[in-house]
Amino acid sequence: QPCDIGFVGAGVMGKNLIMNLVDNGFRVIAFDLDQSKLDALRAQDDAERGDNPPRVLTCNSYTDLLASLSAPHLIVVSVPAGGPVDDVCHKLIDAGLQADDIVVDTGNSLWTDTQRREKEYEGKFILFSTAVSGGEVGARFGPSLMPSGDPYAWTRIKPMWEAIAAKVDPQTGKPIERKAPGEVVAKGEPCAAYIGPSGSGHYVKMVHNGIEYADMQLICEAYQVMRDALCMSDTDIAAVFRRWNDGILNSYLIEISAEVLDTQDSDTGAPLVSMILDKAGQKGTGLWTAVSSLQLGCPAPTISEAVFARSISTLKDQRVKAAGMLAGPDQALPSAAERDAIIDQLHDALYCAKICAYAQGFDLMKTAANEQGWTLNFGEIAKIWRAGCIIRAVFLQSIADAYERNEELENLLLDEYFAEQISTYQRNWRKAVANASLWGIPVAALSSALSYYDAYRTAVLPANLLQGQRDYFGAHTFERTDKPRGKKYHVEWSDPSRPVVKMK
Ligand code: 6PG
Repeated sequence: QPCDIGFVGAGVMGKNLIMNLVDNGFRVIAFDLDQSKLDALRAQDDAERGDNPPRVLTCNSYTDLLASLSAPHLIVVSVPAGGPVDDVCHKLIDAGLQADDIVVDTGNSLWTDTQRREKEYEGKFILFSTAVSGGEVGARFGPSLMPSGDPYAWTRIKPMWEAIAAKVDPQTGKPIERKAPGEVVAKGEPCAAYIGPSGSGHYVKMVHNGIEYADMQLICEAYQVMRDALCMSDTDIAAVFRRWNDGILNSYLIEISAEVLDTQDSDTGAPLVSMILDKAGQKGTGLWTAVSSLQLGCPAPTISEAVFARSISTLKDQRVKAAGMLAGPDQALPSAAERDAIIDQLHDALYCAKICAYAQGFDLMKTAANEQGWTLNFGEIAKIWRAGCIIRAVFLQSIADAYERNEELENLLLDEYFAEQISTYQRNWRKAVANASLWGIPVAALSSALSYYDAYRTAVLPANLLQGQRDYFGAHTFERTDKPRGKKYHVEWSDPSRPVVKMK
């Protein structure tokens, strides 16, 4: 009997997606150039299948892979983004892929690569993509899936993706937990929705990751204030995050931050987090989001600051040197009596800044969609991020509700619920940012979000002066407040009679 789906790549993500598919009753055939990965896959199936016959088949070549599937073939590629995806595509073509066969890229591919690939492989096979979020556990027990590309390919893969995706309880908007091998969640709303044409799914996943960077950085800034200004222990900070996780900040990232802070190093017994070198890594998706926001002229400063924060963290040696040379403020650190109030300020600051980071991410997706001619359903995107993915949070339900109220919403900040939330919590946000600055603690993401909020709600920004400067030195022209928009004017600034010249 032919298999339902073939897999190229049985690394951590590939293996877990395969095990998830077999749990859900799909027949999978897997191939990997690295035999040991296939051995590990079979070993995992052996360990999990009990008395049932083997559920995962493996093979030794691309040709065998195709031979184990019925045409038109459906093949998922789970290899690192970039060159390896094209390598696999070429190998599959050589092995006899046909024009109506479907290849699904599940990596964190750059969205423009996906668009390029779809064109490049047209007529050779159908390149479809599905961005996967949720890390290894998500892949195994329910990821959030962002499929995009050829609609026919979507109809082929839809039943499988909907079966393996994370599920949300439609009544509560909360994830339905699934943590054991062999378990299947048949009910609930699947966190898998068709995003749109080629590239759109990877774009949306890229922005998801940009928001992930911002969320993580905001949490880290709150941690640093508690650690360095309030001199709290990691265990006490973990307890604060745990408390926050019961309220409006409830999210996977807050939950795991508490767990990370509460973990002891097995060698020394010291908190493990204090043994981790403070140099952040990155694989590029946050950077791509920041670059895209700059290219589109769509402000996403909190996401960009989160990327910069990782960059500055890597300058460890310079920072150590500078710590001994550069003066900080002479402001005294807060007293113990002020601690609870400061923790509350941080809570509210984190919440408001988080709203701004999401507002930036959704605005970016809207701007890109307009430019690319995609019709993105933002309510649906918020819904498929409610479970399975790294930024999953109850908060996403409120974003889905906002787009349900108004699917044309220009910016999340203009939604009545979020506007009201920020108005309620902003006082503490401002205090948290001001205090951190007085204590000399960097809070780039918290404060950039505040500046974003303040700039967005300012009817008259100082860009009038900026336009004057540009026109002064470069005759770059400006529009006038008293004339119709679009008309350009130039002033001979150094001419005493200063004639205003209308350009067009
Ligand atoms: C996810 C994650 C996943 C990966 C990030 C990590 O949604 O499951 O975002 O895609 O963990 O790419 O990115 P950095 O290595 O850049 O932090």
